[in-house]
Amino acid sequence: TFVVTENCIKCKYTDCVEVCPVDCFYEGPNFLVIHPDECIDCALCEPECPAEAIFSEDELPEGQEAFIELNAELAEVWPNISEKQDPLPDAEEWDGKPGKLEQLER
Ligand code: SF4
Ligand code: F3S
Repeated sequence: TFVVTENCIKCKYTDCVEVCPVDCFYEGPNFLVIHPDECIDCALCEPECPAEAIFSEDELPEGQEAFIELNAELAEVWPNISEKQDPLPDAEEWDGKPGKLEQLER
């Protein structure tokens, strides 16, 4: 399965949702997650993310392991999103900033 990781937080570019053949992205206030039981591992979303926030769970960068659980948990409570929308207003400014997990809104 694929996992949305920390750098999506406060960016939320949403390019990823447009290419997903099974519409398995779910949207929170400033972050998106992938439903692990719905993702078919097609890998189409990974190169679409301008923030490079999407990884296969087998290739997660160090320190991003908590996002496996977070994607699974939040995909159960957040609404589905299947159409691209504007990024968050300060997306460019936040892209690449470390420690964004503290900024996650639920
Ligand atoms: Fe959707 Fe494919 Fe990305 Fe999984 S890997 S979230 S199925 S686009
Ligand atoms: Fe987030 Fe990247 Fe999608 S920033 S919303 S995972 S395109």
